[in-house]
Amino acid sequence: MSADDQKRRAGEAAALHVEPGMVVGLGTGSTAAWFVKALAARDLAGLRCVPTSEATADLARELGLTLSTLEDTPRIDLTVDGADEIGPGLALIKGGGAALLREKLVWEASSRCIVIADAAKVVPVLGAFPLPIEVVAFGHKTTGNRIADVLIDHDISQPARLRQAERGVVRTDGGNVIYDARCLAIHDPARLADDLKLITGVVEHGLFLDLADEAIVGTDDNGVERL
Ligand code: 5RP
Repeated sequence: MSADDQKRRAGEAAALHVEPGMVVGLGTGSTAAWFVKALAARDLAGLRCVPTSEATADLARELGLTLSTLEDTPRIDLTVDGADEIGPGLALIKGGGAALLREKLVWEASSRCIVIADAAKVVPVLGAFPLPIEVVAFGHKTTGNRIADVLIDHDISQPARLRQAERGVVRTDGGNVIYDARCLAIHDPARLADDLKLITGVVEHGLFLDLADEAIVGTDDNGVERL
């Protein structure tokens, strides 16, 4: 079974948790897109959906889902979203799709959060996937240097790298930039999360700790596993 099939299975299984009339947070990325498609196919009455990115909003709109905002629906019943890594205790790295700030705002407003993924995302230690850190564009090189100091304090010797794409520096939906930290292994995610948040100019980081209630992971045998 391909990774994409596993993502689809996980998305479809998560869509079964949604009930009519719910306010649902829609994640961002290829796995979350499978969830959005499966949710739209269920055609449930009275759903209101809060997207975590412009890309997800476009997809949901195209599929006929009713969109809302955190301002209009500040309490979300269930959010379903992908992840870049799922570690012990459902600690996550997110932000590979540069949507981590809106994602975290929506996750934190949710009564329940389900993370969906293909099996390769489940890891024994977080950190092989570079940790995304969202930074205000103004003075971002100075902030990048401060991030490097914090990383050294966590035995991470490589400075975080400014995310670039073919068209230049990547900007988030909020106009910020992303620094990706090659941590390799994050031994104390809670301390790193706290230390990064203390840096002026850091808007948010991709460590999602104590936020996921359940993981639904697509498996090789055509099924899903719940963690
Ligand atoms: C976007 C995210 C995504 O959920 C994460 O990058 C996983 O993406 P995909 O489902 O495409 O593998 O955090 O900011």
